[in-house]
Amino acid sequence: MNTKNTILVTGGAGYIGSHTIIELLKTTDFNVVSVDNFSNSSAKTFERIEKITGRKVINYQVDLCNKTDAEKIFETEKNIAGIIHFAAYKSVPESVSNPQKYYYNNINSLLNILDCCLKYNINNFIFSSSCSVYGNISRLPVKEDTPFGKAESPYAFTKQAGEEIMKDYSIAFPKLQSIALRYFNPVGAHTSGLIGEAPINKPSNLIPVITQTAIGKNKEVTVFGSDYTTRDGTCIRDYIHVTDIGTAHIKAMQYLLENKNQSSFSIFNLGSGTGVSVLEAINTFEKISGQKLNYIIGDKRPGDVEAIYSDTLKSESELGWVPKFNLDEMMESAWKWELEQVKENKLTN
Ligand code: NAD
Ligand code: WQD
Repeated sequence: MNTKNTILVTGGAGYIGSHTIIELLKTTDFNVVSVDNFSNSSAKTFERIEKITGRKVINYQVDLCNKTDAEKIFETEKNIAGIIHFAAYKSVPESVSNPQKYYYNNINSLLNILDCCLKYNINNFIFSSSCSVYGNISRLPVKEDTPFGKAESPYAFTKQAGEEIMKDYSIAFPKLQSIALRYFNPVGAHTSGLIGEAPINKPSNLIPVITQTAIGKNKEVTVFGSDYTTRDGTCIRDYIHVTDIGTAHIKAMQYLLENKNQSSFSIFNLGSGTGVSVLEAINTFEKISGQKLNYIIGDKRPGDVEAIYSDTLKSESELGWVPKFNLDEMMESAWKWELEQVKENKLTN
């Protein structure tokens, strides 16, 4: 039996990491510690987590690319049962203009944390992967055994490489049990409105662009292309609430800790299974917010996949994970979070 009770969350101050920590604290008995260097987040996240859960989380402000500093965490934290590794850079366009930043950070941090797993005998590891590993796929819905497509960006390539590294480690060191979770399009915010996506770098993803336009931070939303061969000509994606993504990590960690995994490296898609077009997303936002969104139709975005959504069978049958939030609730929570930030900024200014 595993008597260790701490889950180490890397990137715990980030968007998905923070929502996962909240679910870990609210629904499990695990102790949680975080490692985040705040390169795309801030310490304020932990105040928000404490407000929601009533619990303080220790964060080690360490760059995981620095192996000596990373190892110091493991010298202190002797009770780690498993690691959820979120820490990485994630902007697709930035990775195209600055590939070295992405290769250096995303690969070195992964190698260092995996080496720490081996050195400190931590055998349960979950990696944040992405549906971008599938590339431009034509057979839908996409299943876990679909081979990698051509990576459309250096970012996507870091996820493919990350999975390959984990696969090789699982062959060489079978004690190390690991899972790659391939997220589709995580969106929304905690239902309290107290926490959500708060990146330092300007977001380019559809839902934050919609809410920031509606609040007046951007002039308009540009819909990237309207002559795709989809039902309304705009691209189709599989949006999934960030809290559901958090819950899936708990299921995946429990699956590893209970030795339910069928091989030492497993892969699961995390999507809703439903495709939503850009115009449908905009219409849903207008319905739930009660306001018209200023949008224009623009050119296609280079590298965009026409349509992608997940096959959910494996995550449902093996992990027992079924997402709870629908698109209305995703939009509602994203909008609530945007409105809360305005209130908060008024109070602090
Ligand atoms: P995020 O930027 O909000 O969070 C990542 C956190 O990691 C940030 O707080 C950042 O400061 C930290 N970090 C980055 N490099 C670090 C390093 N070297 N050392 C320590 N901390 C470091 O991103 P997110 O949206 O929460 O994404 C989390 C993970 O999920 C990433 O691996 C991302 O690639 C993956 N992912 C995200 C999405 C998405 O749409 N958000 C989709 C698929 C996969
Ligand atoms: C969604 C749809 C755009 C902005 C990215 C990464 C992927 C994963 C999730 C990390 C697309 C359209 C967007 C806008 C628009 N992340 N859009 N106007 O591109 O599906 O996936 O995030 O792993 O790897 O590539 O997400 O939110 O950028 O776009 O019309 O201003 O919205 O064309 O169809 P994407 P997105």
